[in-house]
Amino acid sequence: MTNAFCSKFGIRQPIVLAPMGRVGPPELVAAVSNAGGLGLAPLWTDAPDKMRAEIRRIKELTDKPFGVNLNMDFRNEAQLDVCLEEGVDVISIFWGEPGNFVERAKSHGAKVIITASTSAVAKEAVALGADAICAQGWEAGGHVEGKVSTMALVPAVADTVGDVPVIAAGGIADGRGLAAALALGASAAWIGTRFLAAKEAPTHPVYMERLLAASEDDTSHYDDLYDLVWPNAPHRALKNSTSEMWDAAGRPPLGQRPGEGDILALRPDGVEIPRYASAVAFAGLEGEIEPLPMWSGQGVGLVTKIQTAEEIVREIVEQAKTIINF
Ligand SMILES: Cc1cc2nc3c(=O)[nH]c(=O)nc-3n(C[C@H](O)[C@H](O)[C@H](O)COP(=O)(O)O)c2cc1C
Repeated sequence: MTNAFCSKFGIRQPIVLAPMGRVGPPELVAAVSNAGGLGLAPLWTDAPDKMRAEIRRIKELTDKPFGVNLNMDFRNEAQLDVCLEEGVDVISIFWGEPGNFVERAKSHGAKVIITASTSAVAKEAVALGADAICAQGWEAGGHVEGKVSTMALVPAVADTVGDVPVIAAGGIADGRGLAAALALGASAAWIGTRFLAAKEAPTHPVYMERLLAASEDDTSHYDDLYDLVWPNAPHRALKNSTSEMWDAAGRPPLGQRPGEGDILALRPDGVEIPRYASAVAFAGLEGEIEPLPMWSGQGVGLVTKIQTAEEIVREIVEQAKTIINF
């Protein structure tokens, strides 16, 4: 199942593994790329040395194209330097002004994908030289900049950006979603929550159990619930005991919140995770997991089993093919 986006990015299936901070390890990224999709590694939380090691590990696991995701709210030139020195195929840019990143990446032969949540932002991204746009709708899990649904956003962005391929993100978890995204004018689907249930994803077992049991109504979008560490960054996560406490207290701001200052969990590197931190519940955390942010998109109701990343890619493509003829 290929198309112009696949040819441009050197892949065989119109599926992009959404970069997911701390739960998108080299094994998952490489597995999606080996299955014919495009794996994106969320390495923006890493120091440059660690990042280089992770990129080299991905290269050991696949000879297919893959990308690295960088967060412009924490823009770091040294991170981009490492990606370009290592010859990363694709740079994915999200959240904030890209500055000179697009120009620098392209001058080294990398392709650039910019995430946009409105057609106006997509238009600016194309003017900067983006090779593709990730149109991220409001249904998406994790940090979500806009408030427009995928259904309305994707065709609007597609109409705005002309020949530049659009990748639809937010709420897509099976072949019906992929077929719908293609029908809306996207060239591929950018899928996060479904891949949290991949065997290769280090999703904490407590988080995994909640994902597999959740319905489409079990997430909520918050402007500022988990805003310690990364403020002013709206997000979508499963409802949990922290969100219930905060709702019951009338959603007070930092400084007046119930349970503020509680240390909920400890990372393997010894870093403490307080309540309301913008953390990720990955395997290896010790402590209380349920009150941590369990990022999830509204498509979570379609995530019912753990499979390999290769099985997920194959199942989604096969199902889409039964709906739309390619
Ligand atoms: C656990 C988790 C972590 C995420 N971390 C990132 C990230 O580091 N960088 C990024 O660009 N997007 C991140 N996102 C957003 C995804 O890239 C993507 O837009 C979203 O998952 C798509 O919606 P879906 O979850 O409904 O498939 C994250 C999403 C989740 C669920």
